[in-house]
Amino acid sequence: MVATAGETTAHRTGGTNYGVEGAKNYARAKHGPDGSAFLDSVFLPFLRNIAGKFLIDVGCGAGPWAVFAADQGAKVFGIDFQMDMLKNAKIAISDADVNGKVFLANADGAALPAREGEFDQALSINVGCNLPNQSTKHVFEPDLKLEYDKKVGFESHFEEMARVLKPYGKAIVTAPTSFGEVFTRGTREKKYVLKSIEQQLNFINIEISQIPPTLSERERKIQEDTIIKNHLNKLDDVYRATFASRDGKWVLITDEGKLKSGEKIWRKLPGLTVPNNYHHEDEYIAAAKKAGFRVVEQHHKLFRTEKERRKYNASVSTDKHLGKEYSEEAGGKPPFVVYVFEKLLPPLDPRIRIIGQVTDSESAADIAEATVHALAKQAGGQ
Ligand SMILES: C[S@@+](CC[C@H](N)C(=O)[O-])C[C@H]1O[C@@H](n2cnc3c(N)ncnc32)[C@H](O)[C@@H]1O
Repeated sequence: MVATAGETTAHRTGGTNYGVEGAKNYARAKHGPDGSAFLDSVFLPFLRNIAGKFLIDVGCGAGPWAVFAADQGAKVFGIDFQMDMLKNAKIAISDADVNGKVFLANADGAALPAREGEFDQALSINVGCNLPNQSTKHVFEPDLKLEYDKKVGFESHFEEMARVLKPYGKAIVTAPTSFGEVFTRGTREKKYVLKSIEQQLNFINIEISQIPPTLSERERKIQEDTIIKNHLNKLDDVYRATFASRDGKWVLITDEGKLKSGEKIWRKLPGLTVPNNYHHEDEYIAAAKKAGFRVVEQHHKLFRTEKERRKYNASVSTDKHLGKEYSEEAGGKPPFVVYVFEKLLPPLDPRIRIIGQVTDSESAADIAEATVHALAKQAGGQ
């Protein structure tokens, strides 16, 4: 089901909902791939030199990349699960004066409202971490007298991007990694940050245990989510950390290996706390390959030295400062991965034998594809 305006922050069947406030905070924090300018050097080049291209920005959120790409001359179709996010995207589009270059739709990334082979490039910027594992959902829409089964989840997101891209079209996908690490702003010693986290978790678990047992499951869930969010939001200098429920208590994740694929987690980000679904970075590659992509590039970024990190910090405002966890020299781990996937042509029909010498691989594939169509037509008698 598509989230409707005004809902609270929560994990939902097809993805996540940040709620009205969360969507506003997200727009205000101008997150992009990492909430700072840290990833710009590996990510922004894919959004430059794209004049005249048609992009689909899946899970566009408040539209930072749709707007950026439109500003670079592309035509962009931004889709998102949450109306609240799209409302902020609409404002951003208007503020940036790129009206008429960005089109928005409220839809699920697992069922894109677009035709096959329509786009030159797809973006999925930190969307996978919002998607549950694959499942089939039964939908009943009484007003439309419609009843059908619909695929939702992580794998369908990749299948759908592959479907709507042109052959050889690229999908730029970013995802958080190193879920067992607490990334900080570097303003306090790590042991004090961890102490604050422990304190807030204590408050969370006490308050959750005091929720009246008479509440319905839904009301209970809303209260629980609100308690988690309110307390984790107090951790100002925690730039990224992951929390999950273990034996009825919320805990800080310090070992990524303990998380299960698709598990409901909460992540503290700069300025807000969001509900996510855990996916290891290898799952992105597996889902992309299954959907018919090949991996062209894969980037992990870390400052190599402490000097590099300090130089970066001196170039941004204090609220964007990054702690030692971002530097290789200090034993840090990469917070994000940026993938470039390329859509392959479907495998050749085994009935086809290419004879003779073809020097250009693209034209060989074109010839083969045309032959497949001709054979299929013959077989179908059309
Ligand atoms: C972390 S935000 C990223 C937003 C944007 N790409 C950016 O970089 O600022 C994730 C976005 O995914 C959206 N989302 C969650 N589940 C979704 C789904 N099933 N289909 C489409 N979008 C979804 C959320 O509404 C949210 O806007």
